[in-house]
Amino acid sequence: MNENMNKPNDDDIVFAASGLTKTFGRSEKAIRAVDDVSFAMRRGEIITVVGESGSGKSTLARMILRLLPITSGTMALNGTDVTRLRGRGLQEYWRQVQAVFQDPFSAFNQFFSVRRLLHRSGKLLRHADVDLDSRMRAALEQVGMHPAEVLDKYPHELSGGQRQRIMIARALMMEPKLLIADEATSMLDASLRATILNVLFDLRADADLSVLFITHDIGQACYLSDRVLVMQHGKLVENGPTEDVIFNPKHDYTQRLLADVPRLHDVG
Ligand SMILES: Nc1ncnc2c1ncn2[C@@H]1O[C@H](COP(=O)(O)OP(=O)(O)OP(=O)(O)O)[C@@H](O)[C@H]1O
Ligand SMILES: [Mg+2]
Repeated sequence: MNENMNKPNDDDIVFAASGLTKTFGRSEKAIRAVDDVSFAMRRGEIITVVGESGSGKSTLARMILRLLPITSGTMALNGTDVTRLRGRGLQEYWRQVQAVFQDPFSAFNQFFSVRRLLHRSGKLLRHADVDLDSRMRAALEQVGMHPAEVLDKYPHELSGGQRQRIMIARALMMEPKLLIADEATSMLDASLRATILNVLFDLRADADLSVLFITHDIGQACYLSDRVLVMQHGKLVENGPTEDVIFNPKHDYTQRLLADVPRLHDVG
């Protein structure tokens, strides 16, 4: 592994978080769901965030997505502070930072066809001079689907894996800089999960997209990521290249997570 992996150029950094903290509640009873988290993400990099349930992964994701007020800390996209963006600036941020969540069904209106769902999402692009229809088709093809076969389908006519791929296509349609996938493959069976992971993996070839892949399963982490961040009780306890974290974990907690994975070393 290249020494410089740990010391990216400023120009290479797409997203940087510094001291991000989120507390819920007040006084002594307050929960520090995310506690002083700092990391940087390079262009085209896939980072996996792992940690057990309640460790703060989704809270971190929702802060990065600017869906949750930030208690303290700062974050920057392409060198611009985005911690307190509002109005038009925030709209543009929401275009550049896209998310895919665990349950694709809940994101669908059951009465909307795929075409209508994608069109509605495309509203964020209305100020830009884009041909929404061709953008939609290109995004579906990027996730290995034939537009003609799925555009007029309704959610109940699609499999879980197809729905999840459509959600990824919906995100890609925005041509984001950063894609956040929070447990996006956790509900899928093993073969569908592999398909979706491969889709994400192939997307990194498009060097402009960085992916933050969130999972409680460290076994999924090593499959596709360049770097692994380990969270425990809101804190970042480990941050390193995937190989180092898997084969030479520094933290006891990471060792425990790894011990729970059967035959981990066969996965990658
Ligand atoms: N809106 C909220 N109000 C109060 N506490 C919250 C809120 N959202 C999350 N928490 C708490 O913050 C902590 C972190 O939750 P979070 O959902 O980020 O964990 P997670 O790592 O995503 O877990 P999982 O793997 O189960 O999805 C938990 O203790 C949770 O109870
Ligand atoms: Mg979560």
